[in-house]
Amino acid sequence: MNITIDINGKNVSAAIEPRVTLLDFVRDVAGLKGTHAGCEHGVCGACTILLDGEAVRSCLILAAQAEGSQITTIEAVDGTARQPGELSVIQDAFCEAHGLQCGYCTPGMVLAAKTLLQHNPTPSREQVREAISGNMCRCTGYVQIIDAIMLAAERLQGRNQPANGA
Ligand code: FES
Ligand code: FES
Repeated sequence: MNITIDINGKNVSAAIEPRVTLLDFVRDVAGLKGTHAGCEHGVCGACTILLDGEAVRSCLILAAQAEGSQITTIEAVDGTARQPGELSVIQDAFCEAHGLQCGYCTPGMVLAAKTLLQHNPTPSREQVREAISGNMCRCTGYVQIIDAIMLAAERLQGRNQPANGA
């Protein structure tokens, strides 16, 4: 079947088998490897992307189901970056608060955080914990990830700026 999906503002068209997941379409057809394949059955959250602005697990959605939707992947989560190629506020906060080690879970965590902060710009730590409860991390113990999202929330509210003023 032939399908076209809007990924990060560009139409990506391909002839695929109906069984192809949105995860595989993003990685193998669109060539966007920032979306990670983990469990591939809906448990780990590594494959999280935004579908029409909401965080979803791309391994559980067929590519054909996403036709007509707008997909955002980690490669385009730069709406708050100051310059093209710079990190967004959320990504920068993950770096500063040591919210990642190996980085495998990080794209999914960042997109889960983005969805949370769009709906709730001033979350409590418990609300952050709940928002990322579907995303597994084998490295950090989660505390630094929560710290990073709280820091990003403060920065997006203009209540905490980088020490170097950059
Ligand atoms: S790869 Fe999709 S939830 Fe784990
Ligand atoms: S940083 Fe390694 S899995 Fe989260």
